Amino acid sequence: MSTHDDLFAHYAGVDEGQRLFRSGHGRLELERTRELLLRHLPSAPATVLDVGGGTGVHATWLAGRGYGVHVVDPVLEHVRAAAADGTVTSEVGDARSLRQADASVDAVLLLGPLYHLVAGEDRRRALTEARRVLRHDGVLLASAIGRFMAVLDWASSGALSNDVAEKLRPVLATGVHDPTLGFTDAFFHTAAQLHQEVKAAGFDQVRVVAIEGPAWTIADTETDAERRFDSALRCARLTEDRPEIADASAHLMAISTAFNLSNGHHVHRHRSTTLRHGVPLVVRLTAQPRSGDSPALPWGGR
Ligand SMILES: C[S@@+](CC[C@H](N)C(=O)[O-])C[C@H]1O[C@@H](n2cnc3c(N)ncnc32)[C@H](O)[C@@H]1O
Repeated sequence: MSTHDDLFAHYAGVDEGQRLFRSGHGRLELERTRELLLRHLPSAPATVLDVGGGTGVHATWLAGRGYGVHVVDPVLEHVRAAAADGTVTSEVGDARSLRQADASVDAVLLLGPLYHLVAGEDRRRALTEARRVLRHDGVLLASAIGRFMAVLDWASSGALSNDVAEKLRPVLATGVHDPTLGFTDAFFHTAAQLHQEVKAAGFDQVRVVAIEGPAWTIADTETDAERRFDSALRCARLTEDRPEIADASAHLMAISTAFNLSNGHHVHRHRSTTLRHGVPLVVRLTAQPRSGDSPALPWGGR
């Protein structure tokens, strides 16, 4: 299991809490991530374990909508920032080894760990842990960085020199990012690979959609910024589930349900899993709030 030294060094040098607010691309990721969360999460009140939740940008927003959210993150500063406004709880932890009990949460967000875990075995552990803590029919929302994010970013900035191209060649072939090109050690998925990894961890009804879509690089142009942002946003919505173009997105999201195994057999489904508009109906049906006003929090209350 790899350690977090590079991760700590990277986040010590950036303001993660502002990442999604300071650029057009960041705002596009934020807006699209939030609309996908609202579309696919069980309705509030439901319990959400935000693994790799960072400074709580999504967690506190979900808490404001009635969810019971707990953040797990290895970076102490992130964990403190996430809990600062008192609406969510948080702890230092690792996606590969969660403290939460089996089948104890309604949804798991993995919006970060899969691209920070370079070894396939580490990503498998993180996904297996997410599945373990999810209730039967719980929902996983797991994001990845797209394989072509770096090459498109370098190209659109006009800085794709021969030297950079040579460094990008192995990244494109293997997905293992070269941190001398920026960011930190990381893994960049294709949509097919993300789908395969989530499915291999035992998840059912896996879908992979593009978060920012193929036009994300225009979200930061200086002229006509708002119109271009709106166009990029509409383009993302129009093309989100087109596999032919999903890989052009900077981030991808896998959406899936966890049918937990019981005595080696699938637990019987009580509900239809008919696909409606490509969305497993069971996801919509689990959106019924449980009795009572506040979510039962498996991490011991807010
Ligand atoms: C770019 S931030 C994303 C934060 C937030 N989830 C979002 O979507 O904006 C990635 C986060 O994943 C966390 N992370 C990296 N490796 C992790 C691991 N093994 N387990 C849990 N979190 C991890 C990092 O510390 C960081 O806070």
